[in-house]
Amino acid sequence: MKRIAVLTSGGDAPGMNAAIRSSVRRAIYNGVQVFGVYNGYNGLISGNIEELTVGSVGDIIHHGGTMLFTARSDEFRTEEGRAKAVEQLKKHDIEGLIVIGGDGSFRGAQKLTQLGFPTIGVPGTIDNDIPCTDYTIGFDTALNTVVDCIDKIRDTATSHERTYIIEVMGRDAGDIALFAGLAVGAESIIIPEATTGVENVIERLYAGRKRGKKHSIIIVAEGVGTAHQYAEIIKKQTNFDTRVTVLGHIQRGGSPSAFDRILASRLGAAAVDLLLEGKQDRMVGMKNNQIIDVDIDEALADKHEIDMSIFHLARTLSI
Ligand code: F6P
Repeated sequence: MKRIAVLTSGGDAPGMNAAIRSSVRRAIYNGVQVFGVYNGYNGLISGNIEELTVGSVGDIIHHGGTMLFTARSDEFRTEEGRAKAVEQLKKHDIEGLIVIGGDGSFRGAQKLTQLGFPTIGVPGTIDNDIPCTDYTIGFDTALNTVVDCIDKIRDTATSHERTYIIEVMGRDAGDIALFAGLAVGAESIIIPEATTGVENVIERLYAGRKRGKKHSIIIVAEGVGTAHQYAEIIKKQTNFDTRVTVLGHIQRGGSPSAFDRILASRLGAAAVDLLLEGKQDRMVGMKNNQIIDVDIDEALADKHEIDMSIFHLARTLSI
């Protein structure tokens, strides 16, 4: 394999640049030419493809976002769109593709492999919702952003003796809410993977007030509903001074944490190694601090599991 390409797709995640840099430099180190596909699968369809050099990925390891830009491509979901993409890959003599993104992006990669084009997936999403890897690129940075924001909210929550209901991202997964909840000592963590009735949240609020707590922090994962919905019920039933913060896209930005840079560097290089070994339709990941690779089909068929022991620990500590 002498010419490969890399693209980022779906929601951006801090650390994607570090993964691009790693793939590009690992390939060049092995005498392979690398091309960047701009704007995700849309760029593959339109042929927005340019050669990347050692220098073109310089000074990006510490930047959030993705230098290749990203998109959620509707056209790539069509057969015609995918045919155009393969045509472009052939036109550029590209023999293998690295896709950095989440499960939607991997489904796209799967389709390319079915059309006979070798692809390797690198898990990059703040949601941490990809099975077969302990962490996805971007999750740690997003988590730290959330923790930093909630620590700030806590200051004002205490001063005003308020109850804050904070909504965090994660799509259908509760990882950001769960880990942030443990890290900030939230009173309740409401995630899709565990049924926490609002009655229980209110019970815990009263218990906290009874022992003299001045403020309360409740974290809601977007996958269960909105913070506003929960706040309305809580306010109605308790009459506590309640405020809502929706953290939103702030969670997706910022300089990647050291953990994400290291994970991205390891995974980006591993993806190139697999292509050079002649492998395809694989996803790289990290399990117990070891870099592994699995069949993309297997990863997509599996269900992402949350570590419920963390949920129970958080509940026992925030009494
Ligand atoms: O998958 C990453 C993510 O940030 C999710 O947490 C969130 O639900 C979604 O993307 C938001 O998507 P968009 O940026 O298209 O609004």
